[in-house]
Amino acid sequence: MINMKKLAAEKACEEIKEGMIVGLGTGSTTFYAIDKIGRRVKAGLKIQAVVTSNNTEKLARERGIPLVSLNDVQDIDLTIDGADEVDVALNGIKGGGGALFREKMVALHSKRNLWVIDETKLVSELGAFPLPVEVLPFGYRQVEKELTKLDFHPRLRKQSNSETPVVTDNGNYILDLSLKKIKNTEWLAQKLDSISGILEHGLFLQLTSDLLIGKKDGTIEKRTSGSFREEAKHQINE
Ligand code: 5RP
Repeated sequence: MINMKKLAAEKACEEIKEGMIVGLGTGSTTFYAIDKIGRRVKAGLKIQAVVTSNNTEKLARERGIPLVSLNDVQDIDLTIDGADEVDVALNGIKGGGGALFREKMVALHSKRNLWVIDETKLVSELGAFPLPVEVLPFGYRQVEKELTKLDFHPRLRKQSNSETPVVTDNGNYILDLSLKKIKNTEWLAQKLDSISGILEHGLFLQLTSDLLIGKKDGTIEKRTSGSFREEAKHQINE
């Protein structure tokens, strides 16, 4: 069977050039990119990487990839990351793996963000995937109540088969919002940004310029934000 995630992730590594500062995302798709980069580093490629989670840090260290802190770089040349959903305007939902805050920080400080997904993650409208929101443990139940009043249906993320909350790398909790369809992504992002107690949310709007999609027929499709927005315009005008 075709491994669509691996196809896209390994293709993305072709964009990495000698001397670059590379952002490494988190998740099962990014795993294949990190693995490939590790092999290139062993073969002599000189790069430094900024990681987006403790899991990615561990993996990158195991693969011998030299790491640098986000504090110690001017900016990042290229970040390769996965996503949970991507729409035709190249906006996405991230944070299924709980690393949304560091992923967004790294994305915001990257000259170029390249997402790698399998074709099942392409959607016409964001929202079927629950939107992760990272909240500080202090008073998080108040935030939960506020989100409930807004009809966002928050659910505290718990460890599997347990009542224990998932704790992020930053020591926080995650509320997953069951929204089904997000009609106005900009409005929602601003609303969530304005609520005290929310550290970050998983709406990544206009952050990514390039997307590689691994397909079940074994091909890889490349889309850029330009082509995506053209397509979105056509859909709106039809
Ligand atoms: C982690 C993320 C991941 O990029 C997203 O969940 C996709 O994961 P995967 O590649 O395992 O499907 O945002 O916080």
